[in-house]
Amino acid sequence: MSSWMERRQAELAAILQLGPVVAVVTIDDVAQAVPMARALVEGGVRAIEITLRTKAALDAIRAVAEQVADAVPGAGTVLSGHDMAAAERAGAKFAVSPGTTPELLAAVEKSALPYLPGSSSASEAMWLLAHGYSRQKFFPAEPAGGVDFLRALAGPLPGIQFCPTGGIRPDNAADYLKLPNVICVGGSWLTPKNLVQAGDWQAITALARAAARLRG
Ligand code: 3PG
Repeated sequence: MSSWMERRQAELAAILQLGPVVAVVTIDDVAQAVPMARALVEGGVRAIEITLRTKAALDAIRAVAEQVADAVPGAGTVLSGHDMAAAERAGAKFAVSPGTTPELLAAVEKSALPYLPGSSSASEAMWLLAHGYSRQKFFPAEPAGGVDFLRALAGPLPGIQFCPTGGIRPDNAADYLKLPNVICVGGSWLTPKNLVQAGDWQAITALARAAARLRG
């Protein structure tokens, strides 16, 4: 592996090890971004994947990067080279995609951002590993086979560490976190729409605090 790739993989690992849970958030109104990120950080969740699924997403990444010192905002739902470049310009510290394409990997190689690509089969995981990506988002985790699937991959593919995302909740997160090939989990349960719309940041801090304690 090139030293460039090794450095980015190490940077990615450091972000994924900030805590047991990466918050996956979708922001409808940019005004929600900073208070939401502050609430998550206060609860001990620093890695925040802001999905590029709304018009507000890039401005939200920019606001969090500039205003919430301890937050580590990343861009999620990165589907193209264009998304990758826009996320980097907005100040994202990492990028995540649900799967990957050759076009996206080419764009990733032109950027400086640590990149977490998605996989949901042994072949996809092996293909990404062959390109140097030993940390992968297992997506969509629950529909794609859940804990049993990841446990089965740990034997033949011990060199891959996964961040499962998609259907992870407080009641199943701990089962994933016990697996030797799980570096962290990701999920949207820390920022339910009703709490965000109500501006109930204390409740979000409480959810984050519980999540941050999930692994010992
Ligand atoms: C996503 O990208 O939508 C994440 O995987 C979040 O999934 P969740 O809403 O099931 O936590």
